[in-house]
Amino acid sequence: MAQVNAHLSRSETLSLLSLFLACFAIIANTFQGDGNPLIASLAFSGIAYCASYAMIRWLGNTFMKAGLKGKDMGRKSLPEIPETMGAICAVVYLLVIIVFIPFPFYKDIVAATSGGGNRDVIRKTQQIETGRFLQRFPHSKLASYLSAILSLQSITILGVGDDLFDIRWRHKLFIPAFAAIPLLIVYFVDFGVTSIVIPTPMRPYLGELFDLGLIYYLYMAAFAIFTPNSINIFAGINGIEVSQSLTIALLIMLNDLLYILPPYIYPSSFPQPHPATDSHLFSLYLLLPFTAVSIALLQHNWYPARVFVGDTYCYFAGMVFVVVGILGHFSKTLWLLLIPQVFNFLYSAPQLFHFLPCPRHRLPKFNARTGLREPSTVEFKVPLHPLKEQVVKIAGKVGLVRVTEAKDEEGRRRVVECSNLTIINLWLVWFGPMREDTLAWGLTLLQAGCGLVGLFVRHRLAGLIFTADNL
Ligand code: UD1
Ligand code: MG
Repeated sequence: MAQVNAHLSRSETLSLLSLFLACFAIIANTFQGDGNPLIASLAFSGIAYCASYAMIRWLGNTFMKAGLKGKDMGRKSLPEIPETMGAICAVVYLLVIIVFIPFPFYKDIVAATSGGGNRDVIRKTQQIETGRFLQRFPHSKLASYLSAILSLQSITILGVGDDLFDIRWRHKLFIPAFAAIPLLIVYFVDFGVTSIVIPTPMRPYLGELFDLGLIYYLYMAAFAIFTPNSINIFAGINGIEVSQSLTIALLIMLNDLLYILPPYIYPSSFPQPHPATDSHLFSLYLLLPFTAVSIALLQHNWYPARVFVGDTYCYFAGMVFVVVGILGHFSKTLWLLLIPQVFNFLYSAPQLFHFLPCPRHRLPKFNARTGLREPSTVEFKVPLHPLKEQVVKIAGKVGLVRVTEAKDEEGRRRVVECSNLTIINLWLVWFGPMREDTLAWGLTLLQAGCGLVGLFVRHRLAGLIFTADNL
C-alpha cells in the first residue's frame, strides 16, 4: 500500500514546538491576576493548530490502513491519500473547547456560590452584571456552551459514520437535524425569542415584531440541515471545502469584532458594552480554535493535496457556523456569508432532486493532456422529456450550462449531455479550463467578495428598510 510521508521536517518540528511552548506560557500566565479569556482562547487556538498539524501527519498511514482513503481524481496517477482527516481537527477542537471552559466561566461560577458547591449566596443580577469583567460569561451561558459542545460532538460522530459507511444521500441529509436538537432546546429555554423585526415599509400591516413561534424552530432546523450539507456539495477540488469554511469563519469573526472592538478603542463614546457583546464573544471563542485547526488542515489539503478532509469536516464546519449563528442569534446575518453555498444548492437542485440524472461524482474532469480541469458532464442515456430538454437548451443559450447536442436516428437534434450543475463546473464553463489551484483560489475569492458585500449590506444598508442597524 502507498505510504504518505508521516514525518515532520526539522524546521516544522521546531516551529510547532516553539509555538506550542509560547502558547502554553501565555495560558499559564492567564492564571495570574485577572487573566483575559480572549488571550487564553488565542493561545488555546495556537495549541490546537500545533496538535492538528502534527497529528494529521502522524496519523495519515493509520487512517489509510483502516480503509479511510480516497483517490485524488484531479491527478493522472489517481494516487490514494488518507481521507476523513477532518475527524482529527474535530476531535482536537472539541478537546480544546472543553479545556477552555473554566477560563470564561470560572470567576462567575465562584461569584455565585459560597464554596462547597452551595448556591446560597444571593446576588442581585445587577451586582453580577457590573461586577463581572467584560469578557467573562454569566453562569447561565454555560448551558449554551455545553449544548454547543454536545451538538458538535454529535455531528462529528455522525460524520465519521458517514465517511466509514458512505450513508445514502436521502438519509444523510437529516444527520445535522439530530445534532442540532441540543441547540434548539437550549435556545428554547435561554432565549425563546421567536419573533422577527419587520422592515419599516411593512410595519403598518404586520406591526413592529412578528412572532413566528414554532415556525422559527423549523427555520433553525432547516438552517442546521442546509449549512453542513451545502459545504459538502461545494466540494471536489483540493482545498475548497476548507478554504470556503475558513473564509466564512474569518468573515463571522470580522462581524464579531465590529461589536466587540469599538468600546475598547473609544471607551468614552461607548460607556456600556453593546448588548450583543456576549453573543459575539461566544462566537469568537468558538471560531478562533476552529480557524486554527482549519489552517492546519488546509496546509495539507491545498493542491496538491496530501490528505482529504472527508464528509466529517464538511459537517463539522457547517455545524460550527450553525452553533454560533443560532446561539449568537445572528443566523440571518450568516445567510449573507453563505451566498455561494445557497447559489450552488439552488443551481444543483435539478440534479439533487433528480429532475436530471445525478452521477455519484460531479467534480470537474481532469484533462491528462493539458493538466487542467474542465467541466464534468452528465450524459442523458435515456432521451430527456421534451419539456426538460427545452429548459436545458434555454439554460445552455444563456450560458448557465454547457450543452452538447447530437442528431438522433430520425435526424432530430437532441440534447445528449450537459455540464454538471455545480458552481465549480459553472466557473469552468465561464472562464475556461484552468489549473486546480487557480480554480480553488477563484472560488475562495468569490466567497470572500460575496461575504464582504453581504456584511456591508447588513450594516450600511439595513437602515433603509429597518429603523436601525443593531450595531
Ligand atoms: C459530494 C458531491 C459530489 C462530489 C464529491 C466530492 C453532490 C451531490 N455530491 O459528494 O458530486 O464529487 O462531494 O467531494 O454534489 N475528491 C477528489 N478531490 C478532492 C476532493 C474529493 O478527487 O479534492 C474525491 C476523492 O475520490 C474522495 C471523494 O471525492 O475520496 C470524496 O467524496 P465524498 O465526500 O464521499 O462525496 P460526497 O460528499 O458524497
Ligand atoms: Mg463529501
